[in-house]
Amino acid sequence: MIGSGYVGLVSGACFADFGHSVVCIDKDVKKIAALEQGQIPIYEPGLDELVAENVKAGRLSFTTEFAGPVGDADVVFIAVGTPSRRGDGHADLSYVYAVAREIAAAVTGFTVVVTKSTVPVGTGDEVERIIRETNPAADVAVVSNPEFLREGAAIADFKKPDRIVVGLEDERAREPMVEVYRPLYLNYSPIVFTSRRSSELIKYAANAFLAMKITFINEVADLCEQVGADVQAVSRGIGLDNRIGSKFLHAGPGYGGSCFPKDTLALVKTAQDHGSPIRLIETTVAINDQRKRAMARKVIQACGGDVRGKLIAVLGLTFKPRTDDMREAPSLAIIQALQDAGARIVAHDPVGMEAAKPLLDERVTYAASPYDAAAGANALVLVTEWDQFRALDLGRLKSAMETPVLVDLRNVYSREDAARHGFSYTSVGRGVDDTGDVLEAAAE
Ligand code: UDX
Repeated sequence: MIGSGYVGLVSGACFADFGHSVVCIDKDVKKIAALEQGQIPIYEPGLDELVAENVKAGRLSFTTEFAGPVGDADVVFIAVGTPSRRGDGHADLSYVYAVAREIAAAVTGFTVVVTKSTVPVGTGDEVERIIRETNPAADVAVVSNPEFLREGAAIADFKKPDRIVVGLEDERAREPMVEVYRPLYLNYSPIVFTSRRSSELIKYAANAFLAMKITFINEVADLCEQVGADVQAVSRGIGLDNRIGSKFLHAGPGYGGSCFPKDTLALVKTAQDHGSPIRLIETTVAINDQRKRAMARKVIQACGGDVRGKLIAVLGLTFKPRTDDMREAPSLAIIQALQDAGARIVAHDPVGMEAAKPLLDERVTYAASPYDAAAGANALVLVTEWDQFRALDLGRLKSAMETPVLVDLRNVYSREDAARHGFSYTSVGRGVDDTGDVLEAAAE
């Protein structure tokens, strides 16, 4: 497994847990030294234990050495980063191609080389070309096998996937890939075999579709506010149609994270380059960018139109719960916009505060708990729906605050609850009073 970042580490540990012998390789000497000491560089529930168990069982090891483990391997996974290239939004493939060159020099015997990193259509062809050019004697089959795991639920997603996608051009790779995934296959997770290019596109099309689905419900939420409807009832009403499906229909402050923003942009660029623009996704990207600032305007409006000198408490900084990942987190743009409008910010996040500090303005202060954050605040803004924020003592919060304004960007509370505790309450897409039924639906 080349690359011990998010995907590489989770995949490596899970493959080892299936009983395979896995070596995780990374150039970063410090990271490998830490992993050897049992320190996991990312926050992912359950990963420490999984790594520890498999290291102890002798199935999982870490190294900076490349040639030996790659030479021994039957299957080599490329799981290095493909960040957005500065300036043009294309995926930066320099790490993938550099690894391909190293693999070419290190393989011995027939080896399946699998791209797990999210890469644009045609990257597999280029990886194969690079390997053959670097070492004409290398006997490899290059396969695409995108990963669909979500941060915070990565192990469960890896072990119980809806499907496994394998794109190949050389039939000799089929059997080893089935073997690698046999435990899941036996658990009835279907393996979809396709061409390599189709497989590469599946990953981008899946992420773009989900980003579009979220953006759709976000726009419906805005309309709900104008016409006096409730977006949670609308979500439930449309989501029960199997053709639509209930997941990814939660309105909020816009999607963030390491995948959707980067992959939608990369798909837009690929499509434009091929003269076949995907306008729905171009629009999705633009709407989602605007939405974060629109959320700041919502807060300002809830504060009576002016936040100059006011203290605003932000609950939740990470792009979603159960991760410390701050990449493209809506909180960043919202806080920036509120500061631009003259507000003072105090923030609390159960896990993400250390990761957030370098990204936020130095005037932001941090609180040890939601109640500390509320002390003296003029408004409380719930940005990330951590479980810890789902059953807050609203009475206690209100008595700590200067003015009782609650802006709930994840629709965790009901207007009724908030009103009972004396809050002025603003949420997303709920233009009517909430009912018990609707809240139940939202919890699913
Ligand atoms: C995503 C994909 O789900 C995963 O398959 C892929 O491999 C990587 O990208 P991830 O970025 O970890 O995973 O998080 P996800 O749970 O999908 O959430 C992404 C963003 O969408 C978050 O900002 C989340 O808050 C937002 N979201 C999600 C909504 O606003 N509403 C929803 O209904 C669902």
